[in-house]
Amino acid sequence: MEFLKQPQYHSLFVFLFGLVLLFPAALSWKDAVTHVHQFVIQEASVKRLCKTQHVMTVNGMYPGPTLEIKNGDTLSVKVINKGKYNITIHWHGVRQMRTGWADGPEFVTQCPIRPGGSYTYRFTVRGQEGTLWWHAHSTWLRATVYGALLIQPREGTNFPFAKPNRQSTLLLGEWWNANPVDVVREATRTGAAPNISDAYTINGQPGDLYNCSKQDTVVVPISSGETNLLRVVNSAMNQPLFFTIANHKFTVVGADASYVKPFTTSVLMLGPGQTTDVLISGDQTPGRYYMAARAYQSAQNAPFDNTTTTAILEYSKSSSAAKPIMPRLPAFNDTPTVTAFSTSFRSREKALVPAQVDENLFFTVGLGLNSCPPNFNKTQQCQGPNGTRFTASMNNVSFSLPSNFSLLQAHKQGIRGVFTTDFPAAPPRVFDYTGNVSRSLFQPATGTKLYRLKYGSRVQVVLQGTSIVTPENHPIHLHGYDFYIIAEGFGNFNPKTDSSKFNLVDPPLRNTAAVPVGGWAVIRFVADNPGVWLMHCHLDVHITWGLAMAFLVEDGVGKLEAIEPPPEDLPICS
Ligand code: C2O
Repeated sequence: MEFLKQPQYHSLFVFLFGLVLLFPAALSWKDAVTHVHQFVIQEASVKRLCKTQHVMTVNGMYPGPTLEIKNGDTLSVKVINKGKYNITIHWHGVRQMRTGWADGPEFVTQCPIRPGGSYTYRFTVRGQEGTLWWHAHSTWLRATVYGALLIQPREGTNFPFAKPNRQSTLLLGEWWNANPVDVVREATRTGAAPNISDAYTINGQPGDLYNCSKQDTVVVPISSGETNLLRVVNSAMNQPLFFTIANHKFTVVGADASYVKPFTTSVLMLGPGQTTDVLISGDQTPGRYYMAARAYQSAQNAPFDNTTTTAILEYSKSSSAAKPIMPRLPAFNDTPTVTAFSTSFRSREKALVPAQVDENLFFTVGLGLNSCPPNFNKTQQCQGPNGTRFTASMNNVSFSLPSNFSLLQAHKQGIRGVFTTDFPAAPPRVFDYTGNVSRSLFQPATGTKLYRLKYGSRVQVVLQGTSIVTPENHPIHLHGYDFYIIAEGFGNFNPKTDSSKFNLVDPPLRNTAAVPVGGWAVIRFVADNPGVWLMHCHLDVHITWGLAMAFLVEDGVGKLEAIEPPPEDLPICS
């Protein structure tokens, strides 16, 4: 009977430990739980494509740990930086109501966590269910420092569809045979586009179609007759991706942690930052089927990684020797498929989209070229097209981050000279945005310009792509908010004719909008979350070039309409 002691001991420990975890939360919110985690940022050697790289990780894991909570729960994640770079962690898509200090973008809501330093991110997730994720928000560290954040239905509630038999998370990523921080440093030095990646990955594995990868290809189980929930996240750095599974259809049920009206499709397209929850049925001949992702490349004549990553959907009782069936993927430039997919989204519930707006904003989003500055070495530092340096902007402002204070700290402490609040509500010059743009409009101005919003104001932003350098599908992400995408289209947005296309009934609620190549998208949100909130293209190469701006949302009336005070361990810059 000796052997029984150990398990008893173990469950007593789990019980006591559980009490410790549950106790503080139980006082404030019945049934809501606080999940305590520790993220140690540390270097690890990871072997992919026959080569070993030393990359930054959380707890030595690549990708990092999956966090699983329920809607209503609180997360408390202590990040300890034992790596050699400054770092921050961003909780992509979490609304961070009044907890903007925990949002994470470097120099926006906090100064970086220095090597040897630590910071505890503490926040509650409310009213969001589905799939979000977390990632580093400093230089290009997010290439390897990222993971899933799964939000299950609130305690005592269920999915708005039959409970799936199984849930699997698929993080699509991008891998370099190099240190990603060096890749972006080199690009910043030369002014040219950064090197393209060497592989895409699913849960960190390139899959069967790459060298030295086959033995580690991810296998996703399914049984005949099952309905499984797949949570697909585009965590790639610079590439919108198509995703499909041989012989299986998807029923899309959610995106960016909001439920959508179910629709079926055989292919998904996700811009970096976006998540899509789909149901699949085990209704095919038991066997092995590839799930595959590869580039949606909307920019013409730009180099891109044209490889394909795969994982295997494997039926129980199927021979693991059988060669999986390969799906057909859309052509790299298949914009019609992207449009058909992105225009299928409808919110599941009646949308709370504002019918009137207080702020009617029009932001151009696109690339640019700076002529070689006089003090630069032309052959070494101006390797962009025709001896230029690549840049990017919104409304002709190329966003530059401060380095001495975070924007939020400067705002709350009234520190002057860190930013200005004159981000323009419309582009400084009206031109044919998606036409043949004159070279004289290629060079934006640099600035740290914010747009000030009154608490509770109803905001509409037309995100207008430009064809400067090249038109491209830009995944525009807003921190601290979910917004409704009420319309999208090609060419220049026309307020007279295009307003009639606005869906104010059941538009999808998202945190990242894939703005059509050579086109536009219109978003609406209510500025009910005070703080400083970055909006940027989620192609990291574009944010590096300045394709960003930030909203400063003022406090409202009283404590409940104000941002909480900063945590005591908030990293400061000096
Ligand atoms: Cu997922 Cu500012 O990013």
